[in-house]
This record gives sequence, structure tokens and C-alpha cells, in this order.
Amino acid sequence: MRKPIIAANWKMHKTNKEAQLFIREFKPLIQENKEVDVVLCVPFTQLSTVAEELSGTSIALGAQNMYPREQGAFTGEISPEMLLELGVQYVILGHSERREIFGETDEFIREKIGKALEVGLIPILCVGESLEEKEQGLTQEKCRKQILKGLEGLDAQEVEKIVVAYEPIWAIGTGKNASPQDAEDTISYIRSTLIELFGEEIGQKVRIQYGGSVKPNNIKELMAKSNIDGALVGGASLEPVSFAQIVNYGE
Ligand code: PGA
Repeated sequence: MRKPIIAANWKMHKTNKEAQLFIREFKPLIQENKEVDVVLCVPFTQLSTVAEELSGTSIALGAQNMYPREQGAFTGEISPEMLLELGVQYVILGHSERREIFGETDEFIREKIGKALEVGLIPILCVGESLEEKEQGLTQEKCRKQILKGLEGLDAQEVEKIVVAYEPIWAIGTGKNASPQDAEDTISYIRSTLIELFGEEIGQKVRIQYGGSVKPNNIKELMAKSNIDGALVGGASLEPVSFAQIVNYGE
């Protein structure tokens, strides 16, 4: 059985003070050690503060990006080692905003995935189609290409640790989520691609999240689908009560 994983993606939101207030309000709202992994992926500047606030809880710390080198002349970048030092366990890689706004390619994302795994960070690899691609019936093809290229040459044991997030770009921040059945269909296609590439056992082990306008009122229906193992949540993760309702979807 795959353990569900619900992750917050705060994107470029909150000051340290605001992050601290969020966590103090959020912690008592969720049940500790329940059967869901909870991850907060916060901006770099908040990692220390959030790590401190989360100590002694089962909530994990995540980052939203990294540069795939240990150190060097890469002005403005952050290495995986720097993240590890702060207690980071997960890192979002290949988010559509990184791909679209910052021009990240599948090859560059593959490099980051390899480096993250090498140092022991768990990548959350984001894939998903644009509205145009959806309208042209290219959803599966797009996801397949991003999986193939993003995980190219990795061995099955490495892939087993990865989390995949299926995030249709048209659903991100728009309030228009994919229907639970459409999300399930694409996620089950992504799983079959993983099985084809890395074998049945690994393909069945990889956790695949849905992301894109996940809210307290649609999480339960999404989580009821057999291939959807969790959610990557943007807007609704910024507020402690709504994110807690998402985490506590089973209650
Ligand atoms: P959203 O963002 O929940 O605000 O749609 C999701 C994401 O971009 O990860």
C-alpha cells in the first residue's frame, strides 16, 4: 500500500514571521502520525524558521527548487547540500512555473533529479499538460515525454523513492481542477508508463499526487481514486485551516 502524501507549495509567499504564525496555528489542527505524510515546501528564506517550528513533529520540510551542483560560481543558486543541512527532505523539481517562467528543460530537470537522489533528497517531479495540449488530446503524450526524459537512465531503486505530481497547467491557480476521474485516468497512465520503464513492482510503489486547484471541498473525491496518492497544494496551503482540512480529508 502506498502511503498518501500531501504537500504544500507556498511558492513565493510569506515572510518568516508569517510562516511561524502559520505553523503555530496549523500544528494543533492536524493529527500527528496519522497515515498521511505531510510536507511543507517553503521558500528558501523560510527553511530555517520552519525547520525549527516543525522540530518534534512528523511534518516534513521541503524546498521548491535547487541547483544540481555541490558548490561553485552559480550566483543566486542553492545547492542540495545546503538544503540537507537545514533538514530539508523533499524538493519540488520541474514545476510548470519553473519550466515556463524560467525556461527549465526536461534535460536540466533530469540533472536535478539525479543530484537530489544522490544526496538523499526526495524529488517531487511535476508533470502536466497546457490547455492547448489538452484541447489537442496530447495530455498523455506530454506526461509520457516528461516522465521519460525526467527519469532517463535512472535505475529502478532510485525511481522508487521519487514522488510524481501530475499538475495540469490549466488547473494551477485557476480554481478549475481536473475532474477526479480525469485526474485518475492520467495518473493511471503515468503509472503504466513507470511500470513499462521500471517494472511492475517499482511502478506500483511510486506515489503520484494530483495538483491544480486542490481545495478542502474536492480533496476527498480525489483521494478516493485508487491511483491518486496525495496532492500538491498551492493556494489552499497558504491558510492553516484550509490546508489542515485538506490534510484531514479522511475525517
Ligand atoms: P494551486 O497550485 O493549488 O494554487 O492550483 C498548485 C501548484 O502549483 O502546485
